[in-house]
Amino acid sequence: MSENAATASSSREITVTINGTVYEREVEARKLLIHFIRDDVDLTGSHIGCDTGNCGACSVIVDGTLVKSCMILAVQADGSSIETVEGLSDGDELAPLQQAFSDKHALQCGYCTPGMLMSATALLRANPNPTEDEIKKGLQGNICRCTGYWNIFDAVASAAERMQK
Ligand code: FES
Ligand code: FES
Repeated sequence: MSENAATASSSREITVTINGTVYEREVEARKLLIHFIRDDVDLTGSHIGCDTGNCGACSVIVDGTLVKSCMILAVQADGSSIETVEGLSDGDELAPLQQAFSDKHALQCGYCTPGMLMSATALLRANPNPTEDEIKKGLQGNICRCTGYWNIFDAVASAAERMQK
């Protein structure tokens, strides 16, 4: 195979919708979705904590399913609709879940927060009134090195309550 042919076959044109905006980009076949979101589309709210699927900082929602975006390739997301932390609030006002994180002091350094918010969003959509155990299970894929988790659990419970009203 010539060098040109190898280069051509290693990238692909993809189209994804992120937070309602359509993006068409040429991407390397090996590029992870988190790198595409952060580097190609400049949405840097989603974080990279480990690149190995352990920390959950890169969590996003793809076609309604919670996904660790360091665990899939950007080309696998071709044609999909992706939600990131940037899409949670409408304009300047915080979404109820974000407000609850702020009110309950559910973050310190904030590194885990985007992933926690997306996991909690997926949880509350599937189960609007979760028990404490269900909240813990819903967030079990997300690591926080600062808070000890209790304030995060409280924030999700409080958001669930506000969203029921
Ligand atoms: S960066 Fe994806 S799980 Fe840690
Ligand atoms: S607030 Fe620092 S890692 Fe969670």
